Amino acid sequence: MMHNEERTFIAIKPDGVIRGLTSTIIKRFEDKGYKIIGLKMLMVTNEMAAKHYEEHYGKPFYNRLIKYITSGPIVAMVIQGYNVIKGARQLMGATDPADAQVGTIRADFAQLKEYNVVHGSDCAESAEREIAIYFKPEELCTEWKNMAEIVTEKEDL
Ligand code: RTP
Ligand code: MG
Repeated sequence: MMHNEERTFIAIKPDGVIRGLTSTIIKRFEDKGYKIIGLKMLMVTNEMAAKHYEEHYGKPFYNRLIKYITSGPIVAMVIQGYNVIKGARQLMGATDPADAQVGTIRADFAQLKEYNVVHGSDCAESAEREIAIYFKPEELCTEWKNMAEIVTEKEDL
């Protein structure tokens, strides 16, 4: 059976950043073995927020969601790995932290669904769409060497 690597878009939302959870949340994904191929901190503009959450336009929580995601810096990431789209959402837990399994990011670090510290794409199509909102193709580091290729002896230089 062939195993194909996927990519997904992850964001540490403003409440996660403000509460000092950036390194803790990144560590959950790194510990799983996913490879970070894009990483930056930024303020989400209203235009980016509207694109990101277009599927929620018109819902009762939409305005609050836009206000939340633009309220402070986010840490945006592209991570790569086998079944990473589903696997990242497993690590995040259910949307509402009250329903999330203990051990997931949202269960362990959040209390309310409106402030649930992390975002992850819900399918391959969303992942491609969301990655394009936050990253230019050249901002992704896809060509990784392994340690054996990086370590060079003095004589080689
Ligand atoms: P996300 O997109 O952030 O990864 O979360 P999700 O797929 O688990 O949930 P989704 O349905 O896409 O909702 C996006 C975000 O909107 C906020 N929300 N508030 N008040 C509410 O009923 C409500 N429902 C959703 C949450 O911050 C959720 O993560
Ligand atoms: Mg979603």
